[in-house]
Amino acid sequence: MNYRHAFHAGNFADLFKHAALLRALDAMAGDPGPLLVVDTHAGAGRYRLTREQLDRGEASAVRLLLAAPDLPGVFEPLKRAVTPQLGGVLYPGSPLLAAMRLRRDDRLLACELRADDGAELAAVLKPYGPRAEVRLADGYEALASALRSWRGRALVLIDPPFERGDDYHRTAQAVFDALRVRPEATILIWTPFKDLETFDALLRGLEARITAPALAALLRLRPPFDPLRLNGCGLIAVNAPAGLEAALGEAGGWIAAALGELGGGIRLVHLATAKRGGAKGRASAL
Ligand SMILES: C[S@@+](CC[C@H](N)C(=O)[O-])C[C@H]1O[C@@H](n2cnc3c(N)ncnc32)[C@H](O)[C@@H]1O
Repeated sequence: MNYRHAFHAGNFADLFKHAALLRALDAMAGDPGPLLVVDTHAGAGRYRLTREQLDRGEASAVRLLLAAPDLPGVFEPLKRAVTPQLGGVLYPGSPLLAAMRLRRDDRLLACELRADDGAELAAVLKPYGPRAEVRLADGYEALASALRSWRGRALVLIDPPFERGDDYHRTAQAVFDALRVRPEATILIWTPFKDLETFDALLRGLEARITAPALAALLRLRPPFDPLRLNGCGLIAVNAPAGLEAALGEAGGWIAAALGELGGGIRLVHLATAKRGGAKGRASAL
């Protein structure tokens, strides 16, 4: 495994994913029942971004987050979670954002395969005690059994590196297996957007196999003329909590305007899963 999130932390896709995750966590915390958060691909949990990284390169998105005069409200919780430091900032990863939101009876299971990132993550989550478990394990495999042994509600983030050919297949299978165990679980799936067909194939695969309501947000920085580039990213929300759709539109619209090129934008589509009326459910193509 070559991918290390430290080389990409704080890019536009992190801002989009993390703003959405916080909105989902906050919406679900409105219900008093205990919540299990499963982060299947957790990373190192916190990333030190130097001033140089903030000035140029992918992490300059964080500089915008901290300084933009027109920052929409959807980013405020994420902005508050970034810690200024001498010579840069500490940018929070998804498991840390989830841990920061844990209430007394909530739990976090954060899976990571890399021993080095897993050790960093364990240190970052130590202050949250036994409520936040770091497991050096395959997140796809751990998900269904974690849901099976939990009684309350569940929020899942599936955020693979997509460096392996089978990540799309394993993602769809993990969603399917998770929903079989817990049909009402909220599941957020992050994907890169390089070409339209790869993204659409994942949507078609989900539409064919799941019945829960699902929403796909496609954030394009530019049209996908070059499929070797990261032309944007997708976020698919199964059983999305109230307010998430509006948040995705607000976050994606701002990122596309601030960091995108001509042809950038955000598109939100409800998938044609069975509960939305089968094949007629998808309102329009992406
Ligand atoms: C995109 S990064 C995660 C970033 C993190 N979710 C965040 O937003 O801060 C993907 C991580 O998944 C790890 N990984 C890859 N395959 C995995 C698997 N099958 N199970 C668990 N972790 C995996 C990688 O080592 C990498 O740290």
